[in-house]
Amino acid sequence: MRISLIPGFALFILATAGQAISPAMAASPAELRGRAFAQANCARCHSIDRQGPSPLAIAPPFRTLHTKYPVDTLAEALAEGIDTGHPTMPMFTLEPDQINDLLSFLKSLK
Ligand code: HEC
Repeated sequence: MRISLIPGFALFILATAGQAISPAMAASPAELRGRAFAQANCARCHSIDRQGPSPLAIAPPFRTLHTKYPVDTLAEALAEGIDTGHPTMPMFTLEPDQINDLLSFLKSLK
């Protein structure tokens, strides 16, 4: 199954544009949007849960990312486009709102 990201991205940007950045707290709107984004775009390879293996074994579970990268430095990588050099991971470039949401979610996994 090939997932087309672009229409989803456009909708997502529209849906989140102009919303205030909320502080990271339990299940904040940003965290929930970040989770939805990860579910839609990342979860077919990465585990996005607090436990359990990734569907694609070589993809690190999201809860482990912060051990390799401080979550805040991930923001930079996401903005510039994550390119792991791994052919199985598609290149993503995220909008600032999406990055904020995704990081809120990642912080919630710590
Ligand atoms: C098609 C499978 C796939 C999808 C979808 C995917 N990834 Fe990955 N991702 C991987 C694999 C495989 C690796 C391990 C790459 C490696 O070790 O070289 C990885 C590694 C990573 C890393 C660590 C990079 C590093 O250098 O260690 C981050 C951060 C990451 N992914 C974020 C994301 C985000 C955010 C999404 C969703 C927007 C996503 N990935 C979607 C397969 C995927």
